[in-house]
Amino acid sequence: MDSGEISLSDREFEAVRNKVYDLAGISMSDAKRTLVVSRLSKIIRRLNLDTFSSYLDHLDRGASADDVQEFINALTTNLTRFFREDHHFAHLSEHIGSIVNNPANPNRSRLRIWSAGCSTGQEPYTIALSLLAAYPKLKSWDFKILATDIDTNVVEKAQTGLYKAGDLSGLSPERVKLFDRDSDGTVRIPEHARSVVTFKSLNLMEKWPIKGPFDAVFCRNVAIYFNKPTQEKMFTRMGELLAPGAFLYIGHSENLNSVADKFKLVGKTIYENKLGSSARSAA
Ligand SMILES: C[S@@+](CC[C@H](N)C(=O)[O-])C[C@H]1O[C@@H](n2cnc3c(N)ncnc32)[C@H](O)[C@@H]1O
Repeated sequence: MDSGEISLSDREFEAVRNKVYDLAGISMSDAKRTLVVSRLSKIIRRLNLDTFSSYLDHLDRGASADDVQEFINALTTNLTRFFREDHHFAHLSEHIGSIVNNPANPNRSRLRIWSAGCSTGQEPYTIALSLLAAYPKLKSWDFKILATDIDTNVVEKAQTGLYKAGDLSGLSPERVKLFDRDSDGTVRIPEHARSVVTFKSLNLMEKWPIKGPFDAVFCRNVAIYFNKPTQEKMFTRMGELLAPGAFLYIGHSENLNSVADKFKLVGKTIYENKLGSSARSAA
């Protein structure tokens, strides 16, 4: 069988774009054309189809949920790394310190953080490792990190808690020490950090079966794939799940200008929730 790429007409590209927007809210630019061809051609051939049109027909009629998920998985961009945009973790640590060591509330023991669009897990594990190192008493708290992504492949990979040695490159020796190593060099997330993170597949465009309030939400480098109205709706919903005065961390090229009435910019891509009172009663 010919294993080459399948040609993609303008009309077919438009239909792929509409489909990924309808399913995942992702607005794909013209620059993604090559990516569409290379990633979807393999799937089309494996399904014994030979054109994009026949594949799109298949997705429209009678494709299994797995086939539709495979289409979505193929078109997501999952770039991430440990301690990415590390000023966020310094700010988070200070914020959590003020909760953990708050003399006015010595009986508090609940902490919730959401990593929305967590990809292969480096972001939620960085949160877990850095906070547990800074505040060992969190080990006895009701401390949970929810980590979600639409892409089921990355969620499955994240759940293993296993990474390649190269995934730690560029980290300081102090940070490298936070990870366990197998004798073959495999990097392993230590159990105390793994156990506080729960991974789930979740499409941010659909219902969120999630209860707040969260003390922090990370939604970084996810909204760049969405158009402005989609971003506005999503960030508004996140604001409702954040505790009053809690923080939303977004990606380096993103902003919350469209929901400026709900969030206050307090640092580089760090926003404080002005609202959130509805989430308090749902906890
Ligand atoms: C570039 S990664 C960002 C990973 C991490 N937050 C970071 O900044 O390093 C973007 C992630 O958003 C996810 N994503 C895209 N559309 C989504 C949607 N509709 N619902 C949930 N996750 C989505 C992708 O699958 C991908 O893993």
